[in-house]
Amino acid sequence: MTSSERIFEIKKQLGEDLLILAHHYQRDEIVQFADAVGDSLKLAQIAEKNKRAKYIVFCGVHFMAETADILTDDGQIVLLPALDAGCPMADMADRQQAEICWDIVTKEFGESIVPITYINSKAEVKAFVGVHDGTTVTSGNAKKVLEWGLGFKDKVLFLPDQNLGMNTAVDLGIPVEHMAMYDPKTQKLTYSCSKEDVKMILWDGYCCLHHSITAELVEKARKAVPDAKVIVHPECRHERVKMSDGKGSTEFLIKEVKAAQSGTKWIIGTESNLVERIKKDNPDKSVYLLDPHSICTNMNKTSTENLLDTLEGILKGDFSKQITVDKQTAEDSVKSLNTMLSLS
Ligand code: 13P
Ligand code: SF4
Repeated sequence: MTSSERIFEIKKQLGEDLLILAHHYQRDEIVQFADAVGDSLKLAQIAEKNKRAKYIVFCGVHFMAETADILTDDGQIVLLPALDAGCPMADMADRQQAEICWDIVTKEFGESIVPITYINSKAEVKAFVGVHDGTTVTSGNAKKVLEWGLGFKDKVLFLPDQNLGMNTAVDLGIPVEHMAMYDPKTQKLTYSCSKEDVKMILWDGYCCLHHSITAELVEKARKAVPDAKVIVHPECRHERVKMSDGKGSTEFLIKEVKAAQSGTKWIIGTESNLVERIKKDNPDKSVYLLDPHSICTNMNKTSTENLLDTLEGILKGDFSKQITVDKQTAEDSVKSLNTMLSLS
């Protein structure tokens, strides 16, 4: 029996006790086993709603499994097949750094600040945000969530992705000059407008694969396929978003191409497994990957072998791949997640 056949066999055996979730950035090899495939928002919503599964296997990266553990009941076990699959952007902010930043920005701007953290962050950062009455956010609900934040306090501290923060704030009509930047390494806060005009305080973090898409690549792609539309994920730099025809979350990028007319051409600036799947699912359109380097090595760490190993472990009562968030962190961070879910 092949590894794939064995995975399907265990899935059948465990039935509804098992829920396999896969992020859109996972390889097709993994997606074929998933009960649900989605972006960060959709997967968080599914994890929160499912009270039936005893075992939730998260094919994604560490912060996603942590989020699932926070949102599920105590008896539900969340497992991550590739224990070393982290997210370099989530690792750009920890709680201690966030507390130091909070001291600095509240001293500088006063108390009317609400912290908003991208779901791509550590549980301890979500807990920091929960303690300060803030919320989490994903690319799929960023505009609504930021509107909520700015309706609530004068300024938003947005972490750890400066690009999602800036792109969403620009959508709400906030000029780039009204955004401050906080560097957690040097603890330096920089801005060029008056204190009163600062609306966003952006954490100097980013997703390497989206942040490194260059202007030259966009120009080259446009020259190669002049009648194509360029669409990008909001984790890309604001300058790249300005050069494109549209931007949006993973679900947005999928829907945009799906809804388009046959024969249309699309150049997509995001992770490569997803773009390859969009290409396969839309054979009547021409789909191109904007940057051949858009590979998330961490997402690619999930394999048929480590997924099978996780499932065999469940059968043997071996939960060494379980991801758990301690009680206090979970209690504080669930506040920030629930605020976001109620706004979505
Ligand atoms: P979304 O799933 O929210 O689009 O985020 C993309 C991403 O980078 C996940 O790590
Ligand atoms: Fe993190 Fe970027 Fe990979 Fe998403 S694509 S998991 S943000 S490094």
